Amino acid sequence: MGHEVVGFLHKHHNLQFFNTMAAFNPMLVETYTAPTNIAVIKYWGKNDLKLNTPMNSSSSITLDQGDLHTITSIAASKDLEEDRMWLNGDEIVINGRGKTCLAEIRKIAGDRKDANGNVIVAKEDWINYKVHIVSINTFPTGAGLASSAAGLACFVSTLAKLYNVSEEYEGHLTAIARQGSGSASRSMFGGFVEWQKGERSDAHDSIAIQRADENYWPEMRAVICVVSDKEKDTSSTSGMETSRKTSTLLAHRANNVVAGRINEMEKSYLAKDFDTFGKLTMQDSNQFHAVCMDTYPPIFYMNDISKTIIRLCTIINSYYSDPITGKGIKAAYTYDAGPNAVIYCLEKDAALIYSIMARYFPAPNSNSIGDYTNNADYYNECTNNADNLIPADLANQLDKCGRVPASGDVKYMFYTKSGPGPIHQPIEEAILDTSTGLPIDVSHKHKRMRIS
Ligand code: DP6
Repeated sequence: MGHEVVGFLHKHHNLQFFNTMAAFNPMLVETYTAPTNIAVIKYWGKNDLKLNTPMNSSSSITLDQGDLHTITSIAASKDLEEDRMWLNGDEIVINGRGKTCLAEIRKIAGDRKDANGNVIVAKEDWINYKVHIVSINTFPTGAGLASSAAGLACFVSTLAKLYNVSEEYEGHLTAIARQGSGSASRSMFGGFVEWQKGERSDAHDSIAIQRADENYWPEMRAVICVVSDKEKDTSSTSGMETSRKTSTLLAHRANNVVAGRINEMEKSYLAKDFDTFGKLTMQDSNQFHAVCMDTYPPIFYMNDISKTIIRLCTIINSYYSDPITGKGIKAAYTYDAGPNAVIYCLEKDAALIYSIMARYFPAPNSNSIGDYTNNADYYNECTNNADNLIPADLANQLDKCGRVPASGDVKYMFYTKSGPGPIHQPIEEAILDTSTGLPIDVSHKHKRMRIS
């Protein structure tokens, strides 16, 4: 049989013929990587469940994809029988929100053309195409590190490219990502991003807007302590619904607090004023978790380790800041719907913050630093220099918070910075087999965070 095929190929070596064959039912493939983002003014509570619009605007910093990312490849073909999806190697059911994004993209699909401008798929013909979606997160899914933000932003960006869509209004793709997961709208851009809640009934103004790109404040850094890799108990979606129904503090926050804070936050970011930025970041995280506590029954996302990290940051900030003006803040913690700490800081202070966290939450084994952090060199540099970096009287004060250095409570530490929005990848980077549309193993390229 094999010989017959080879013979056939030799006999009919007619390029035109093979091109026609190849173009008959081509497997179209696109790949993107996309970043997470961590809010500094939190989104919590929905106005409209179907459109997934928020009770208040929010703002965030997009993190560097070099350190944390989702990668998604999507194949479309007439030969595929149904829309299917694989996440981190396992096939999953495409949920309602994913289906909504797919449907919204299909509505605005354009003609797909080849490099010479010839139409390969006319927009009316997309109805005959199904997709296979393959996606990997390099960080724990569902543990409060905005995996849904990166995942849905990646999904929407890849689909938009594949279907060659045209936005019908400014921010349309961010509005589609919003319908997948609210925070995903903000991962559609790099740098400092605001998701404005919008006023219109069709929610066309509930979109994300980039306020400053990732190069605007290049000194901004984030130290992330992964406190748990477990999937969270209360999903954001159900948690925020219970809060909306039961927390009077949430209503107060959404109606009276956030608009002013967003404004102040944006000004502080644009002025590179870390004191104001840091204080607001911490206050807003505190208020979000106070809303969780005010929810009935209450929701606990932070645990004792999270609270210890808050204490350590508070001691650092009061040690360095002026008691009268409050200026001199160095460590701005924030927590999402999980126990992990994200500590924003400036590059000049990052080694101090990192070495303090690494002192109290050391790697379990000095031979496997690479399994504990995304940047083993930085970990070694900070821990080897800790005595120079941490003044002795600060170390004394920190010890008094009661934390005894021990490994195991923090599972992983990231050192990262702000980065760009979703990035289109060349065909060689596809994480599915471009002839079958099935996932391929790329674990060597996209190292998933290992948890000991
Ligand atoms: C605490 O965007 O995950 O991280 O829209 O229901 O998918 P859904 O919620 P999601 O909520 C994120 C909440 C948060 C705060 C934030 O990122 O602003």
